[in-house]
Amino acid sequence: MKRALLSTALVVASFPSLGNAVELLHWWTSNGEREALAELAIALKQQGIVLKSSPVHGGGGDTAMTVLQARAIAGNPPEMALIEGPGIQSWATLGFVSDLHSVAIEQNWDERLPDIATNINTYKSHFVAAPVNIHRVNWLWANRAVFDEHNLTPPANWDEFFAVAQVFKSQGIPALAIGNEPWQLAILFEVLTLGLYGSDYYRDLLIEFDDALVMNNKTVELFKTFRRLKPYMTDPSVSASWDNATLNMVKGKAAMQLQGDWVKGELSYMSLKPKQDYYCLPAPGTANSFIYNVDSFVLFRLRTEASENMANQLANTLVSSDFQSRFNQKKGSIPILKDVDMTPFDICAKASKQAFVHAEVNNTLLPSMSDSMAVAPQLQEAMLELINHYFNDDTFTEEEAISQLMKIAASVHFNR
Ligand code: BGC
Repeated sequence: MKRALLSTALVVASFPSLGNAVELLHWWTSNGEREALAELAIALKQQGIVLKSSPVHGGGGDTAMTVLQARAIAGNPPEMALIEGPGIQSWATLGFVSDLHSVAIEQNWDERLPDIATNINTYKSHFVAAPVNIHRVNWLWANRAVFDEHNLTPPANWDEFFAVAQVFKSQGIPALAIGNEPWQLAILFEVLTLGLYGSDYYRDLLIEFDDALVMNNKTVELFKTFRRLKPYMTDPSVSASWDNATLNMVKGKAAMQLQGDWVKGELSYMSLKPKQDYYCLPAPGTANSFIYNVDSFVLFRLRTEASENMANQLANTLVSSDFQSRFNQKKGSIPILKDVDMTPFDICAKASKQAFVHAEVNNTLLPSMSDSMAVAPQLQEAMLELINHYFNDDTFTEEEAISQLMKIAASVHFNR
């Protein structure tokens, strides 16, 4: 402890030579996300650092990553960037990001973080990114008043989902709030994959791209079921953002939303309460599994000793119990540090923590394919394109989709 304090003091002492503003590139532009980000600004301000926010619109962060690449190539990266999954290692391979080994050792990150955090955020056994949370992707959000009014119970599996959706449809209410964007569609597709066929199938199809499975009848059925959802959605020709979709669900323009728990950040921002105003439930058929998505920050290397110290100081703040508690209560996610007290969190976050621990023990913890956690960015992009094409072009058959999937699988095997 003493050592940690001493080194923090050294860090603070050497930091002013670099100036006190830090630019962060990110895609947190919704109300809940901005509230959470404000917690980071507060935490840094307490250390004399001013957070300069550079937001890039687009849920899921695909556009932000394109901007980040362009800036890095132009030699003008921000000091700090929000990033997810295997992309972290790509940046580390290129030598762009700060090595956080000393702060990680000092703060005992290896012990205090779950294995998934170590796997995602390390390169050659050194931490190169600071993780702040765990988002669960396979959630179902349901407007309680809408369900009560129609005397319905939220669905626990996909058969129930279609039954409930049909009743809503007959009353003129779309069951699902969604914006027609590749990223949102891909989340729906992966949650459906898991809910229909379970975690082994999810892993074999969307992470391993197992050839036998790609050609399997189940995969044909998966695509067909995905298309069956179309009549039960808010206008599928509109490309609304995910937070607009949440607003539609809140206003009762749709009954449910299938999205990660960043949705809860929006609901909390609107002062809505779980159980009373909305239900947070596992997505149909996925109660025993946990699709995760971890937000991390990389700190770009500025080749001076002061900037190295600054990187350590920032990392120290990001991976601290106090910050992760405050931040995650706003963000909708749960802290990634194992030792954060969950008492002040709401019932959804507590349920998420329980589900995470259960999934860790039972080998049903799954990285999100659509949210950049499972496969390299080029593959993720190819998958998003395929899912988007299939959904939006009714003349594109399941057989064509599967032959496209075969090509993606072949490139996965070639590159591994
Ligand atoms: C990120 C979340 C973010 C969501 C919507 C996900 O990729 O992990 O932090 O809230 O995108 O923008």
